[in-house]
Amino acid sequence: MKITICGCGYVGLVTGALFADRGNKVICVDNNPKIVNALNSGKIHIFEPGLGKLVQESVKRGNLSFIDKVEEAVQNSDVIFLAVGTPSNGDGSFNLSYIKEAAKDIGRALRNSLGFKVVVVKSTVPQGSYKILSGIINQELGDGSLVEWAYVSNPETLAEGTAVKDFQSPDRIIIGTDSDKAFLIMKELYYPFIIKRDRIMRGSPADAELAKLFSNTALATRVAMINEMARVADITPGADMDVVRRMVCEDSRIGYKFMFPSPGYGGSCFPKDIQGLVAQAKIYGYNPKLLSVIHESNEVHKNYMGERVAGLINCQNTTTVAVWGVTFKPQTDDMRDAASIPIITRLINEGINVNVYDPQDNKARGIFGNKVTFFNDQYEAVKNADALILLTEWRQFDSPDFSRLKTQMKGRQLFDLRNRWLPEAANRNGFDYFGVGRNYLLHEKI
Ligand code: UDX
Repeated sequence: MKITICGCGYVGLVTGALFADRGNKVICVDNNPKIVNALNSGKIHIFEPGLGKLVQESVKRGNLSFIDKVEEAVQNSDVIFLAVGTPSNGDGSFNLSYIKEAAKDIGRALRNSLGFKVVVVKSTVPQGSYKILSGIINQELGDGSLVEWAYVSNPETLAEGTAVKDFQSPDRIIIGTDSDKAFLIMKELYYPFIIKRDRIMRGSPADAELAKLFSNTALATRVAMINEMARVADITPGADMDVVRRMVCEDSRIGYKFMFPSPGYGGSCFPKDIQGLVAQAKIYGYNPKLLSVIHESNEVHKNYMGERVAGLINCQNTTTVAVWGVTFKPQTDDMRDAASIPIITRLINEGINVNVYDPQDNKARGIFGNKVTFFNDQYEAVKNADALILLTEWRQFDSPDFSRLKTQMKGRQLFDLRNRWLPEAANRNGFDYFGVGRNYLLHEKI
C-alpha cells in the first residue's frame, strides 16, 4: 500500500518504519527540513531501540522516504496518517494547533486527488476531536471534489523503549471508523502484525479516542495510587511497601503491572493525556472528581521525593550527590516530565554539586546544561559523592558493585527511588538504604 505519515516524531517514525519494513511504500512528512535531510541519510534524531536499523534498511530498499511538503505525498497515497504532536496547553487542555494545521494541509491536498483515501488520526487527541478534524478536512475539500475519503481514529499504543516490539506484536489495534471500506483497508494494512491472532478492535471514532485516553489514565492512576500508598507506608511503623506491594499484587484481580513505586511518572503521555481528558470532560460539562486529582497527586509526589532526599542528606554537610539515570524511564533518551528534573533542581537549589550518569543523556544535557556534571561512566560519577540516588532503573544499575561504591564514595547514603536493590545487601556493605515506602526504621529514627 502507499502511505503518507505526517509527523516524524516517535509515533510517526515508528509507524512509518514498521509499515515500510513490511513492504509498503511510505513517505514521511515533517516540516523541519533538518530532520528530513538527516532521516533521508539514515540518521535518526531520537533514541528508540531497533528503530535506527529499520529506518536505514527501508530507506536503502526504497520503501521509506522523507519530505517536507505534504501535497504530492497525499495525492499518491491510499492511507494518510496524522502523527503530529498535540502538546499540552498551560491549563492542561490539548494544544490542537499543529494537528489542525496538518488536517488543513491534507484537506487541500485531497482537493486535487482522485479515488478513495483513508485519513487516519494516530496523534492523541481529546475525546470528540474527530468532529473538528473531519470538519476541517471537509471544509478545505469544498464542493465538487472527485475524491472519496473516510476518517479513522487509530490511536497509538506504543511505549517508548519498546515501541518497535509493541508495533510488531500489538496487544490491540484500535480502529475507530464509521466506514466499512476504510476498516477493511486498515485491516489489510495491519494484517502482517496480527497474523497469529486478530488483535483488531473496532468502534466509532469517539470510542477509539476515549479508549486511548482511558488506557493511559488507568495506568497513570495505578502509579499515582501505589506512590501515595508508599507515602502511607513511609509513615506506618513496621511497614515495607515492597512487601505490601507483593502481598496485594498477587491478587490476580489487581496484578503487578504499573504498581511499582517510583519518584513519580513522567513522559510525553501520562501527564498530558490525563489532564487533557479531564479538561475536555469539563468542557462537555462534567468534572470527574477522582481523575482530576491524579496529575496533582503525581506532581506532589515528585516534589515530595525531592524534599525527602534533600531533607535526609543533610544539605549543610553535603557537597556532592551522584545520580544514576535521569530519563523518564529506561531505554529512552526522553526527558519530558521526568521526575529527575524537580528532584535534581531541588538539590541544585541547595547548592549541592550533582554528578549525573545516564546511558542516554543526550536530551538531559540540553536541559541541565552546566548546572550538573555529566559522566560517561556510572562509577566515575560517584567519586567523592556523599550520596547516590537511583532515579531511572536502567538494567546496568540493577546489581551495583557495593565494594567499589564504598571505595569511591565519600558518604554512605543510597537512595533507591525505584526500589530495585535489596536493602539488606546495601546495609551489609555498610550503606544506609532509603527506598520508596520502605523507610519505617528511618521514620522511627526521625
Ligand atoms: C505510555 C503507555 O504505556 C503506552 O501504551 C502509550 O502508548 C504511551 O504512553 P510511555 O509513556 O512510553 O508509554 O511509558 P510507560 O512505560 O507507560 O511509563 C510511564 C511512566 O510511568 C514512566 O515514568 C515510568 O517510570 C512510570 N511507571 C511505570 C512507574 O512509575 N511505575 C510503574 O509501575 C510503571
